[in-house]
Amino acid sequence: MAEEKIYIFDTTLRDGEQVPGCKLNNQEKTKLALKLEELGVDIIEAGFPISSPGDFQSVEEISTVIKNATVCGLTRAVQKDIEVAAEALKKAVRPRIHTGIGASDNHIKYKFNTTRENIIERAVAAVKLARNFVPDVEFYAEDAGRADLVFLAQLIEAVIAAGATVVNIPDTTGFCLPHQYAEKISYLVNNVKGIENAIISCHCHNDLGLATANSLAGAIAGARQIECTINGLGERAGNTSLEEVAMAIKKHPETGFTTSIDSTKLLDLSKLVSDTMRMPVQPNKAIVGDNAFSHSSGIHQDGFLKEATTYEIIDPREVGADVSKIVLTARSGRSALAFRFRKLGFDFTRDEVDELYAKFLEVADAKKEVSDEDLQELAVSLKTV
Ligand code: KIV
Ligand code: ZN
Repeated sequence: MAEEKIYIFDTTLRDGEQVPGCKLNNQEKTKLALKLEELGVDIIEAGFPISSPGDFQSVEEISTVIKNATVCGLTRAVQKDIEVAAEALKKAVRPRIHTGIGASDNHIKYKFNTTRENIIERAVAAVKLARNFVPDVEFYAEDAGRADLVFLAQLIEAVIAAGATVVNIPDTTGFCLPHQYAEKISYLVNNVKGIENAIISCHCHNDLGLATANSLAGAIAGARQIECTINGLGERAGNTSLEEVAMAIKKHPETGFTTSIDSTKLLDLSKLVSDTMRMPVQPNKAIVGDNAFSHSSGIHQDGFLKEATTYEIIDPREVGADVSKIVLTARSGRSALAFRFRKLGFDFTRDEVDELYAKFLEVADAKKEVSDEDLQELAVSLKTV
């Protein structure tokens, strides 16, 4: 099967940085941008230049240091926004302006107090203006997830005719189910004249915990760019998580998809983003959470120790983690206990492990997790009876 590249558009520095408490200074943004480029992302959304002088400077600085990835600046469909973004991106090797406007009736009525026709006019004008500055213009149809499909298709057709090279179909409120989001993308693929002249992009929020599933469903339906963030950071419940998309694609070659992400750098970058943004990663977070490669129940530990693939679909080294962890709790079994003792240098017989296991359970019932120090004490108690 011919491989189809899925372009990875990282918006950690824009949508991710909008999260309360995640604000970065220029140096931090530039450092992360360079790391994102090393990771292999295709497009770095560096910021929203008109939003503040600091963000303008960040986009400008990132534009100077990034040599391979496309550098993108966000704008509204507003002349001044586009002019300022073009200025901030002037030094970029591959600049992209990301402009757009609300597409759902809800946004058209409450945010813009206008008509669908006027939205198309403003969108077309914005794309044409942006194309005067850069050859690569991405258009976002905000709240496309809840937009009327026939109107969305008209809007997308108009902006492609105006010169948009990428059309972003955001599920801004994280509302869609995967099959609904996929149907939206399929509809555009099949009904928009000129769609072959643009890349369709997925930008899914995680309000229902479906952002990654929706983005993958969108790609299967024909999108070729996924917008995502490290650790899934982003407005409210966050965006599609980059590490989840990259690993889902890597683990499912039958999709025919490939990305340029070097997965062995994922864990380090996740930690760097978490530390720099002072935003802890939940322990059970897929791919990069502390527990992503930990086994704690007896049944799982026994299987894992016989053959890792019984309970692991990813070798931790694939994402830059050292080894899987065998955590000892009151739910652990004898094989895990013997394994941890062996790691500490104690090679006990089966009878000895049986005897130690009863004592271990007493400690484990009293504590959340049994440590190496606890095991040392247990081992000594056996030796001294
Ligand atoms: O969620 C959204 O719709 C956005 C756009 C600005 C792309 O972040
Ligand atoms: Zn967003």
